[in-house]
Amino acid sequence: MAKKKGRILTGDRPTGKLHLGHYIGTLQNRAKLQDEYDLFLLVADYHTLTTHPEKEDVIRTRQNALDVVIDNYAAGVDPEKVTHYLQSDVPETAELTLIFSMLNTVPRLQRVPTLKDVMNNLHIEEPSAGLLNYPVLQAADILIVKGNLVPVGKDQASHIEVTRETARRFNQRFGKVFPIPKGMIPEDTPTLIGVDGQAKMSKSLGNAIMLSDSADEVRKKVMSMYTDPNRIHATDPGTVEGNPLFIYHDLFNPDVEQVAEFKERYRQGTIGDVECKKVLVEKLNAFLDPIRERRRFLEERPDDVIDILRAGANRARPIAQDTVAEAREAMGLTSLLTDHVIDLYR
Ligand code: TRP
Repeated sequence: MAKKKGRILTGDRPTGKLHLGHYIGTLQNRAKLQDEYDLFLLVADYHTLTTHPEKEDVIRTRQNALDVVIDNYAAGVDPEKVTHYLQSDVPETAELTLIFSMLNTVPRLQRVPTLKDVMNNLHIEEPSAGLLNYPVLQAADILIVKGNLVPVGKDQASHIEVTRETARRFNQRFGKVFPIPKGMIPEDTPTLIGVDGQAKMSKSLGNAIMLSDSADEVRKKVMSMYTDPNRIHATDPGTVEGNPLFIYHDLFNPDVEQVAEFKERYRQGTIGDVECKKVLVEKLNAFLDPIRERRRFLEERPDDVIDILRAGANRARPIAQDTVAEAREAMGLTSLLTDHVIDLYR
């Protein structure tokens, strides 16, 4: 294998099956990055606890974790090339989070913008200490494997900043243990709009096309998709810009000439929404077919999926243990049970 350019760490919260927005935003990029970088992927089940701490929520993360892993591989991530693990299978992450908690003040964490967003969206009046600490846990994820690069969406930029500050502060105070990682935040990939044309694609908003949707579900969603609200008749000149119908054609219809022709005719009012939608259904289903097939293959082999996570934890955990040992050593937080420290007092 050619020498890799550095270590990447990124993760997904196990909230369930993934959709086209995830594909466009992250999954397709991972499939490219896995050849060039040492790619670490984690399923962030501890992070899910910060907003969903009930026992039934925790149990649900187990199935959701499998779904997330399956969707990654269905979308082109190669289990042979990456290290994929469940965050709680590397519990040293929790110890590093504790250490990092001392390097971040409460007011600093209260200013992280995602905190307010999550509290508003989920109607949380008072955050738990765990939720406040969310970015610190994320810093531990990244730094415990000494990740250099972190591909994430724009909404995660503030967490990367906390990670960088934490690494710098640790290194300054105790000696250089951690790299200062960089975010890889795609500027040119806008978040995919949902089929309702109102907000970014999100399962909870009900405007998502899931990678696991059947051909028929895709057809129903596309045929009722929001397009140009001002266009009543197929003969009205329509607007192409910002129209979900054409955003999706641009992304999922590989026949560039056909897309250009549809846009032209749409603007002139010589093609109907229905015709454009029917073609989009075909193209989307052609795109999703191989994904569905790989998905089905893995769904029938849950033990293989678990083996992927086992292999991932087996690789990540010794790395995490080494990093925590190194951090403790740098801090002087060594065990009194070793001869080495006791010697100091003899
Ligand atoms: N917070 C990330 C999200 O909501 C998920 C995540 C957890 C993550 N740990 C990470 C992303 C470490 C990058 C690196 O999408």
